Amino acid sequence: MKILITGGCGFIGSHTCVELQNAGFDVVIADNLSNSTDKVIDRIEKITGKRPEFIKADLSDALECNKVFDTFGGITGIINFAASKAVGESMEKPIMYYKNNLGILLNVLENMQKHGIKYFVQSSSCTVYGEPDKLPIKESSPVKDATSPYGHTKQIAEQMLGFITSSSDIRAVALRYFNPIGAHPTALIGELPNGVPNNLLPFITQTAAGIRKELKVFGNDYPTADGTCIRDYIHVVDLAKAHVVAMNRMIENKNKKALEFFNIGTGHGYSVLEIINSFERSTGEKLNWSFAPRRAGDIIQIWADTEFAEKELGWKALEDIDSMTSSAWKWQQMLGENK
Ligand code: UFG
Repeated sequence: MKILITGGCGFIGSHTCVELQNAGFDVVIADNLSNSTDKVIDRIEKITGKRPEFIKADLSDALECNKVFDTFGGITGIINFAASKAVGESMEKPIMYYKNNLGILLNVLENMQKHGIKYFVQSSSCTVYGEPDKLPIKESSPVKDATSPYGHTKQIAEQMLGFITSSSDIRAVALRYFNPIGAHPTALIGELPNGVPNNLLPFITQTAAGIRKELKVFGNDYPTADGTCIRDYIHVVDLAKAHVVAMNRMIENKNKKALEFFNIGTGHGYSVLEIINSFERSTGEKLNWSFAPRRAGDIIQIWADTEFAEKELGWKALEDIDSMTSSAWKWQQMLGENK
C-alpha cells in the first residue's frame, strides 16, 4: 500500500517515512522544501534500503496539489505534515499561516474526495489544550482559545476534519503531539532548524556544539519544583511509529469514529533543568547556560494522559529522556561533520 506524506522531508515527516517503509508501506513524499532539503530522500534510502518517491510541490497551490494526485495513483492514505510551525512567526504573519496550513489541508482533502482516498492522519498539537486546568491532560479536556495563529490553525484543522469526515467517506485521526525531540539512532535524519532555534533541544545541541554562546533558560520562578517550565518530551521515533499505528487502525477498520483524537506523549513531565541534566548526563558534555526572564506565552506545565492512546491504539512511547537527548546530540555532531 502506498501512503502520501506531505512535508515528508521535515523532522517528523522524515522519521515517519522510515517507520512506514519499515512496516512495509510504499511512500510518496510531496514537499516544497521550504524548511527542509531533498538530501533527506537519500538518507531515508540509506536507512531503509528503499527510496521513497518524491515530488517537489507547494500543496497550498491548488494546481500544484492537483498535479501531485494526478501523478501518483494508487494512494491508500495521507499523512499531513506540510505546515508552517513557528509560534512566534505566526504572530507576525497570521495570514501566511492561515493560507498555508489551512489551504494545504483543503486542497489535499478535496483531492482525497476526488480520487476516493479514505484515510487521513493529521499532525495536530497539544497546543490545542492551552494552559491545562488539570494534569495529566486527557483527550476529553477542553480545547481552549488559541493564543497564536499557529495554534488556531491546528484547532481549525481538527474542526474542519470533524465536518468533512461526517459528510464523506474520509476517515481521520488527529495526533496531538506533545514536544517531539531526538533523532533517528543512525543520526542520518533529525531536526534542521532554520536560523536561530526557537525550541529547547536544538538550542541545547547548538550551544554544546559552539554555534550558540549560551542557552537562556526562560524563567526560574514558575510554580514548579525547580521553578522552570515542564513539558512532555517524546522521542521522534516513537512519535513516527504512532502514525503507522494510526494509519493501520483505519485501514483495518478498527477506528470507532470518523474522526479520532489521540494524545501522543510519554505521560512524563520534565522541567527545563531536568532536560539540561539529561543532556549533560547522556552525552558527557557540559552545557553553558543561565537563567533569563520568562518567555511570553509559555505554558507553565503540561503532560499527557496516555491511557487512551495505549488502550485504543495499542501504542506506547518506549524511549527514555536520555535516549532523546543523546540522539539529538549525535545528530548535531553528524551535522557538524557534514558542513
Ligand atoms: N526554552 C528555554 N530556552 C530556549 C528555548 C526553550 O528555556 O532557548 C524552554 C521554554 O521556555 C519551554 C521549554 O523550554 O519551557 C520548551 O520550549 P520549546 O520552544 O522547545 O517548546 P514549546 O513547548 O514552547 O513549544 C512546543 C512546540 C510548538 C507548540 C507548543 C505548544 O514546539 O510547536 O509546544 O505549547 F505550539
